[in-house]
Amino acid sequence: MSMTIKEMQGEILRLKKEKDICILAHSYQAHEILEVADYTGDSYALSKLAAQAPHSTMLMCGVRFMAETVKILSPEKKVLLSNPIAGCPMAEQFTKEAILAYKAQHPTCTVVAYINTTAELKTVCDVCVTSASAVKIVSQLENPDILFIPDCNLGSYVAKQLPNKQIALMQGGCPVHAAVTAEQARQARQAHPQALLLVHPECIPAVAQQADYIGSTSGIMDFAIRSDHTEFIIGTENSIAEHLQYLCPDKRFYLLSKSLICSDMKATTLADVLHCCQGTGGEEIQLPADTITHARRCIDAMISLGG
Ligand code: 13P
Ligand code: SF4
Repeated sequence: MSMTIKEMQGEILRLKKEKDICILAHSYQAHEILEVADYTGDSYALSKLAAQAPHSTMLMCGVRFMAETVKILSPEKKVLLSNPIAGCPMAEQFTKEAILAYKAQHPTCTVVAYINTTAELKTVCDVCVTSASAVKIVSQLENPDILFIPDCNLGSYVAKQLPNKQIALMQGGCPVHAAVTAEQARQARQAHPQALLLVHPECIPAVAQQADYIGSTSGIMDFAIRSDHTEFIIGTENSIAEHLQYLCPDKRFYLLSKSLICSDMKATTLADVLHCCQGTGGEEIQLPADTITHARRCIDAMISLGG
């Protein structure tokens, strides 16, 4: 028997209440998923909310490192990843061994890990950051000698804001955001001269330096909602332009690039969410106890420094 989007959403809402499931959805998820979520937001907001939610089961609609973060913060809970194939390629760009080798050469450095890293990699880092909290957190570190992994674009953005820190970078990054070119940014500006350009710091510096605002996914959304301007070019995953168009029907949102699509974030469908609530889908996140203990140090440090 076929189901409409509304019927599927109705069944998800019924089941999540009956089974005490909290649905967390990253802002890059499809609109019909955001509509059934208990919490939506960027990776920082979701990490904080996950730590506080009272539910016995947490369903993360996003990518694997986000579900792992929830498990690290709430090891006693059942944590599900909405679709097992949803990973983040950036999270796996460096091995634990590569970081340990760097630390052996630079024993006094503080290793700052973007939250887009595996739980395993977090065990050898000192503090996590997200795009929304990176500048605030790194600015509070007493040690000026820092290794920032894995995103060299977010890392250079942080380094530019904090010239007093010596921030070493590794050449990782988000393949989706890093593919946007400076020429595309110029062309988008030319096509929409009245529009403000809002970009995610995972974009390359030559794109970021043309922006009117640089921020996390929630930062971009808040900026566009609050702004008196009426036209915006959205320089992050294209779902953000779609969500904003629902939230602000009188404003206009243009895509910086039609290729700004994260296939991992888009892997989850509303049917996946239903199957997870029915107990027949998703993947339960299992992490070794010592990985949780060691990875938790840097997530706790992020939450305490990030406020
Ligand atoms: P946010 O920190 O803005 O949620 O970004 C996460 C992400 O994966 C961006 O590509
Ligand atoms: Fe990872 Fe980039 Fe997708 Fe974000 S947009 S989940 S950083 S691949």
